Amino acid sequence: MATITVNDSEPQIKKRKVEKEESYPVDLPITPLDPKLFELSNTPLTDECQKIALRKLEEYLKKQQKYFLGYQVNENVHYSNKLSFMLDMHTNNVGDPFKNGNMTINTKIVEQAVLDYFAKLWHAETPSVKENKESYWGYVLSMGSTEGNLYALYNARDYLKGKALYQEPDGNLSYVKPMKEKSHPKHAYHPVAFFSQDTHYSMTKIVRALEIRTFYEIGEKEYQGQCPITSDGQWPKEVPSENGNEGPGSIDVNKLLQLVEFFARTGSPPLIILNIGTTFKGAYDDVEQIGHRLKPILEQYNLYERTVEYAPNKSDIRTGYWIHVDGALGASYLPFLQKAGHRIKGYIPKFDFSLPFVHSIVTSAHKYPGCPMPSGIYMTKRKYQIAPPDDPEYIGSPDTTFSGSRNAIPPVALWCYYANTNDAMEIDKAIKVEDTAKYTETKLKELERKYQPKGYNLWVERTPLSLSIRFRNPENADIIRKYSLSQMTLKIDGEKEARKYVHIFMMQSAKKEIIEELIKDLEKLYDNKLLSKQEKVVEQSMPVSSIYEKVNIHRVAHVPLDNRGYSGN
Ligand SMILES: Cc1ncc(COP(=O)(O)O)c(C=O)c1O
Repeated sequence: MATITVNDSEPQIKKRKVEKEESYPVDLPITPLDPKLFELSNTPLTDECQKIALRKLEEYLKKQQKYFLGYQVNENVHYSNKLSFMLDMHTNNVGDPFKNGNMTINTKIVEQAVLDYFAKLWHAETPSVKENKESYWGYVLSMGSTEGNLYALYNARDYLKGKALYQEPDGNLSYVKPMKEKSHPKHAYHPVAFFSQDTHYSMTKIVRALEIRTFYEIGEKEYQGQCPITSDGQWPKEVPSENGNEGPGSIDVNKLLQLVEFFARTGSPPLIILNIGTTFKGAYDDVEQIGHRLKPILEQYNLYERTVEYAPNKSDIRTGYWIHVDGALGASYLPFLQKAGHRIKGYIPKFDFSLPFVHSIVTSAHKYPGCPMPSGIYMTKRKYQIAPPDDPEYIGSPDTTFSGSRNAIPPVALWCYYANTNDAMEIDKAIKVEDTAKYTETKLKELERKYQPKGYNLWVERTPLSLSIRFRNPENADIIRKYSLSQMTLKIDGEKEARKYVHIFMMQSAKKEIIEELIKDLEKLYDNKLLSKQEKVVEQSMPVSSIYEKVNIHRVAHVPLDNRGYSGN
């Protein structure tokens, strides 16, 4: 057993014993926290030690919070006054949000109010009642949009496979699979997933977990060399975005439609995932245009609406396609930009249930509104809900959600947020974040103009109306850590070059003085880079082959956009 001093600068703390001396390596030299402060052993830590460890943690987190610009998370959250009572009890929203169940220490009444709020925001029919199959159904997520995407695709898969639709527990749940479809027996009940190259990385994990085949996987196996959108017939792993990595980040609508038609011809039901606010570029897919242009294709191949037969003379009518909208970021604020009218310039796409072809929507609570823990909203319509595999008596509530136990705090945090606001205030906030994004883009472009003539290009880009501004990775660990910058490498120019970028997101917590500090830090860095004789400024980006060898800083985060398509067997 080794004896260590917890912290030399805290003389009042006694030495304590720990089982082992080794700690995990600190990933970045600038991370100021000493892992030894937090080591647990068979000896209880004194109150004082705990207090100091927690104080250090708080100081560290508050400093990081102050400078946080790197991800689409609102750090402007203030719930402790109102919600601290919830930290002294265990609350749990296990089961369906509309059935109280036996776990009575829940916040479902608040969850319902929040869901109603989002349903109205997204033009779904309210209230959510079993008598109205057109009305919405949804729940507040315990994870973020990843859970919502997972649940959407799980439901979509079984819906398109012709599995039993949800009925109230006293209903008949007797059938589990449809009868053979006569015109396309091989494909009719096998959904094919389509999503763009700018889609969140979790989607590839989700289709793999759920064993949903993507168009790429099927194309590679069954239609080699026949891809309708490439000159050599090779299948891309994902639906290309407009102008590839050099474009704005929204899906290439023509290519999507061509791909969907190829598979619709075989009778395969398409499961289409669209984005409202992509992960890196913050881009919006044109959901409305896609839905309208899809309709004739789906009608032509009897997929717009189809009869699913599950027993002789027993059937239901449902769509032979599913459109899921991943609005992790954008679905929370775009409705307010829509309501802003002439105060905002540019095309703001519709994406919600006012479009009859939208089946499900997800948004993250911690991204735009802000929430102390990850959470979000998943929403669909009752008529699309699939029967859960079991109806457990144990929880006294239908098992219609993904997890068992569900976090009961985010519904209350979201309720506090929306109880404090109204449409006019939300419109102002949405316009303000857009203005901040525009301001930051302008400032970075000024910097770009300063260094471009000196041979250093900053590649500053912003997709119209996006909250994300991307620019050349400064490749400086201090700056990356200070502002929590997310890094990504994009292959451009026909994949001949790889450019390393970072992005910042102008969330409600992004303050002008911090943005100005970032600009100053970058200016100092570039001046030094250019002055330094040793460091050769590389005007052109590196060739793809060498890029990973040259990374000399730890990756705080990396959002791979390439080579992540489904490739399972
Ligand atoms: C478009 C998109 N979808 C899904 C996610 C996953 O969201 P979460 O981190 O809330 O699970 C993100 C996260 O950045 C995202 O940008």
